[in-house]
Amino acid sequence: MPSMINIQRRRLLKFTGLTAAMAAVYPFLSYAEGMIGMGNQASSDFDPDVEIELKQEVVDIPIFRGPETRVWKVFGKVLRGPETAIVNHAESYIAPTIQLQKGQKVRIILKNNLPAQSILHWHGLHVPSKMDGNPMYAINQGQTFVYEFKVLNRAGFYWYHAHTHSVTAKQVYSGLAGLFIVSDQEEQALDLPKGEYDVALAIQDRTFDDQNQLYYNNHMMQRMQGFLGNQIVVNGQPDYVLPVASRAYRLRLLNGSNSRIYKLAWDDGTPITVIGVDGGLLEHPERRAYIMLAPGERREIWMDFSGKAVGTELTLRSLSFDGSMSGGMMGGMHGGMGMGMMGRMRGRMMGGMHGGMMSGGDLPLGGDYAVLKVRVSKQVQAQDKLPERLSAIKPLRLQDAANADSPRNILLSMRHMSALLNGRSYAMDDIRDDEIIPVNTLQAIAFDNGFSGGMGMGGMMMSMPHPMHMHGEQFQVLKREIDPRFRAGYETVEAGFVDSGWKDTILVMPGEKVTVLKPFNDYKGVFMYHCHNLEHEDMGMMRDFLVK
Ligand code: C2O
Ligand code: CU
Ligand code: CU
Repeated sequence: MPSMINIQRRRLLKFTGLTAAMAAVYPFLSYAEGMIGMGNQASSDFDPDVEIELKQEVVDIPIFRGPETRVWKVFGKVLRGPETAIVNHAESYIAPTIQLQKGQKVRIILKNNLPAQSILHWHGLHVPSKMDGNPMYAINQGQTFVYEFKVLNRAGFYWYHAHTHSVTAKQVYSGLAGLFIVSDQEEQALDLPKGEYDVALAIQDRTFDDQNQLYYNNHMMQRMQGFLGNQIVVNGQPDYVLPVASRAYRLRLLNGSNSRIYKLAWDDGTPITVIGVDGGLLEHPERRAYIMLAPGERREIWMDFSGKAVGTELTLRSLSFDGSMSGGMMGGMHGGMGMGMMGRMRGRMMGGMHGGMMSGGDLPLGGDYAVLKVRVSKQVQAQDKLPERLSAIKPLRLQDAANADSPRNILLSMRHMSALLNGRSYAMDDIRDDEIIPVNTLQAIAFDNGFSGGMGMGGMMMSMPHPMHMHGEQFQVLKREIDPRFRAGYETVEAGFVDSGWKDTILVMPGEKVTVLKPFNDYKGVFMYHCHNLEHEDMGMMRDFLVK
């Protein structure tokens, strides 16, 4: 609809304040489509503290014995500022870790030498719209996109990854994802484990074929459920073992998988001590028998190995759970069969057919399997004490929200082979009235995964867990509500949520509604919200907010 597009384009031109010449050059493209392949230049009036180059290349790396594995790899280099700003991981496909301080001004020069369009997004960072890696800023092979922003976020464990229109899943899977760690004074003043005792672990799943090549398919079932690999990799390494000294560690866990949800627990029954979530440290440590970790989410945990003999091994496992499709209509159709069981069945069926290459093989979603191992390899004398107070977090209040009486409701649905938000699929330049947000307001936003009777509304509806993510500032969780018909499955995951602190991704289970409070301060322009199951995202379960 040309008139619709024109209205949207005018709005965008007005609020992103970008060149109107663009519209004249490509009259048949929407504004955003016209931005693709334009790149971005460094500005002369930006004086960075840190300047980094990130180069994306196709390379072969030795992950296994035998043939090398072809991956899409990011290479980092510090051009200005401390050398510690970049840590390359030569032995793995994982992108370099970026380490910055709050308040630093950073310029990141992205050079795309891949045979595809691509763009990187800084997940969890509060940056201007144009610096956020919206798919409209994808660049072609040989092009450069220069990001410039000030690090406004508090200390925290953020990350970055490709965000290219309809191929995000494939690109992240191929290697375009890395860690982004921010530190600040408040955090440094705490006596938390530092240096080699502060370890970041990106948990992903992959399937390698018999030539050691990454296997990815896009069949309909894989897209509806999301891709599940048959092997867990940590920082790009299969069968990962972390050697530790007998003392306390700060372990930072990222779920960088396309669609796999983990229910993490130590195999010796030690509770998990959570000290931080997506947006940094909690006020106080919180203990859980297990923790849920959905795609896009991070947890920082404290683990004390003191008193353990050299040679002791501990396994971090994913325990079984029911990401249930039961309840409502699916309950009737599938006899209440849960995701876990579906996955297992499918894994077995497909395992027979394709050598376990589809649907996770022996690692079905909701199955029970090892994620990584820790081996005590050094005896040290340490007197580590976990601080009881980690940070101060100002609680956001519903009554301060601009829409306190009517939270924005975002209905999550899957039907007719599509994944939708409020019945809509992703399209560039398609901002509707209910997606416009006044800048510098606090908003109440509810993600409704069939809680409000969505299940009854005609047609085949599939209910799956959706990890919902919003770009820009971090949010706080206000409440969770569960449809009683989904109670049984819900109880297999419920105790693993850590909803305090600042979040940017939140797992919404089938039959559940989660309401959050999110500030939209400082920056105008488009900011995305989407499911972080990357296959769902690519299927269209993604939209833009326009902050104006
Ligand atoms: Cu980590 Cu828009 O995503
Ligand atoms: Cu993001
Ligand atoms: Cu989803």
